[in-house]
Amino acid sequence: MKIAVAGTGYVGLVTGVCLASKGHKVTCVDVDENKVKKMQRGESPIYEPGLPELMKESMENLIFTTDYKSAYQDADVIFIGVGTPEKYDGSANLTYVFQVAKQIAQTAEKHCVVVLKSTVPIGTNDKIESYIHNKQVNDVKIYVASNPEFLSQGTAVHDTLHASRIVIGVTEEYPADVLKQVYENFDAPKLVVERRSAEMIKYASNDFLALKISYINEIANLCETVGADIEEVTAGMGFDERIGHRFLKSGIGYGGSCFPKDTKALNWFANFNDNELRTIKAAIEVNENQKFKLVKKAKKYYNDFLFLNVAILGCTFKPGTDDLREAPSLVNIPILMEDGAYIRVWDPVGQENFKKCFPEKIQYCSCIEDAIAGADLCLILTEWGEVKEFDIKKYEELMKHPIVLDGRNCYNLSDFANTRITYDSIGRRTVN
Ligand code: UGA
Repeated sequence: MKIAVAGTGYVGLVTGVCLASKGHKVTCVDVDENKVKKMQRGESPIYEPGLPELMKESMENLIFTTDYKSAYQDADVIFIGVGTPEKYDGSANLTYVFQVAKQIAQTAEKHCVVVLKSTVPIGTNDKIESYIHNKQVNDVKIYVASNPEFLSQGTAVHDTLHASRIVIGVTEEYPADVLKQVYENFDAPKLVVERRSAEMIKYASNDFLALKISYINEIANLCETVGADIEEVTAGMGFDERIGHRFLKSGIGYGGSCFPKDTKALNWFANFNDNELRTIKAAIEVNENQKFKLVKKAKKYYNDFLFLNVAILGCTFKPGTDDLREAPSLVNIPILMEDGAYIRVWDPVGQENFKKCFPEKIQYCSCIEDAIAGADLCLILTEWGEVKEFDIKKYEELMKHPIVLDGRNCYNLSDFANTRITYDSIGRRTVN
């Protein structure tokens, strides 16, 4: 089957590479020439574990191009995986999706199925279908199907090859049959549903997970006040299979390119349709506050941050990615800097992107030891493996004042029992 993929961001590129690894001929289209050249050399433009290797292995089935016409004109299936960023009012910006739809309408020369992978508001597939049908140049049948993506950054390849489910949203049988064929060799449950249901499954899933995180963060905050331990509490809750252990990790809030955007977009969409999602509104509000939790904690130890040496461990929104979008580091570090703190940042892969946001004043360190040497305060913002495995005695040895504020609960409280380190984490008592 000849497949085209529009957009080579996380969703588009991972989808393209995974489909190619299963034997499909895949042409990936992007407007960014430099990015395309890089991919033509077999290099991945994004940091994603496992992707460069799979890309190299599958190169004989992959074409990368900026020439959308050559990609779309004779494709059997065209996946749209371009971004739907947040607009100023929280709604989803569909400009890129419609741009691709226009290009398909102008170029498709044979019957094909257009598959929307991008996260789009409910009813968008209907609009795309009418748009294409109104604009199409050639007399061919163009079907539109919804096939939302459930991959997480950092585990994107695994999540695609071993998906929890493959949701196929259609209004007719033919596109469902084609997509079943596309995913024939993927070992995952396939669920054929109405197109609008497929669109809703994506938002409802992401927003539910965001809600779960905000809920547990509120419980963690209460635990701190009343002397309970959130790690014990979530361990106890998780044994109930109806709750489960996953996505109960309290911290300094969810970031990334999905949860913040998708909660706001569904909230906006509900309001637009005269509905109110009070739970989602609350999840958004809780998350905004939670991001400032460590800076608030820091005020317990220092009245102000003037001339303070502050070590920051981790600046990405989660481990396993170099992505900074909506990361807590982006709001915490400016506050510390504005108050006159000297910042030293360590992150194993996010530093280069962080430098683009903060080119001046910050010192970037190649190891954790360098970042914490002589520091008055250490903030853990991302739970990288290197941080979790770090010999905690070094905080005591190297820091001027060993005060560690852990926004991701990387260590056991008992580890700090016989040390001078003040260890203040989320939803647990402070040690020393
Ligand atoms: C999320 C979803 O998990 C994917 O299923 C979905 O396909 C994707 O969005 C998407 O819509 O494209 P992602 O944003 O890559 O994936 O990352 P997650 O692992 O879900 O983490 C998101 C944020 O939640 C991170 O900041 C993480 O630190 C935080 N988080 C996650 C918690 O604070 N606690 C948890 O227990 C889990």
